[in-house]
Amino acid sequence: MGHPNEAPIDAYADFVTVPTATASHIPEHADSVQAVALVRSGHVALAALTTADPRPDESVLVTGAAGGVGHLAVQLARIRGIGRVVAAVGSAAKTTFVRDLGADEAVVYDDVDWGEPVDVVLDAVGGDLLPRALAGLRPGGRLIYFNSGGGTVPAHTLLAGSTTITGMAIRRFATTHPELYQRHDELLWQLHATGRLRPGIHAELPLTDAAAALRIIESRTNRGKVVLRP
Ligand SMILES: NC(=O)c1ccc[n+]([C@@H]2O[C@H](COP(=O)([O-])OP(=O)(O)OC[C@H]3O[C@@H](n4cnc5c(N)ncnc54)[C@H](OP(=O)(O)O)[C@@H]3O)[C@@H](O)[C@H]2O)c1
Repeated sequence: MGHPNEAPIDAYADFVTVPTATASHIPEHADSVQAVALVRSGHVALAALTTADPRPDESVLVTGAAGGVGHLAVQLARIRGIGRVVAAVGSAAKTTFVRDLGADEAVVYDDVDWGEPVDVVLDAVGGDLLPRALAGLRPGGRLIYFNSGGGTVPAHTLLAGSTTITGMAIRRFATTHPELYQRHDELLWQLHATGRLRPGIHAELPLTDAAAALRIIESRTNRGKVVLRP
């Protein structure tokens, strides 16, 4: 139980209230497991991409590219027709997975060379990786920060590279851009129905195995989403 003044997190509750703007209708072609893997993470990935608004001739790098949000961001960048999509992951064991999603290049954080600088970074990791992700931007490039990893950037770094960092919180995005959020919702389901966007389900476990699910996430081995079934 959190502090009485904190908003409840509602994790693992049987029922929760959500703003109607963020509710998504599950179409007949899908089930609730696919919906869990697609909707929330897909909205975050799509809103981050929309916020960056890359042109097809630009390049996009996604950190945490094998994770629940990252693996959809790689696919959505590909679908948007981005010329060069780079997937950055924590271990070499994930590179085949992210290449199979459509990434042109796969890099491991520890690699000395991340290849040519990019126009856009969609940062699902932050923290200690944030300076490295920023360093991978071309002059004038933009980083969309949507993770909960923290991190600190000296303001002078932005000045030196003429780079920008834009934060994106999906709850706020949904309430400040309700029509766009609705269009994104339709697009996600449309891409899913046609098989162009495939949410990866790393594991599907009963709620009683929540500890095992959290261990998978903690081990950073998941490729796609870990789904708990009530
Ligand atoms: N802005 C929003 O509205 C919003 C909404 C939902 C989620 N989020 C945030 O978006 C981020 C990605 O979410 P997700 O659902 O894709 O998570 P996820 O499936 O758990 O993937 C996160 C990935 O981050 C990488 N990572 C790097 N450093 C880590 C660390 N210290 N601890 C754990 N993982 C680490 C791991 O992959 P590697 O080992 O390959 O790096 C991990 O697989 C999270 O920070 C989440 O809180 C934001």
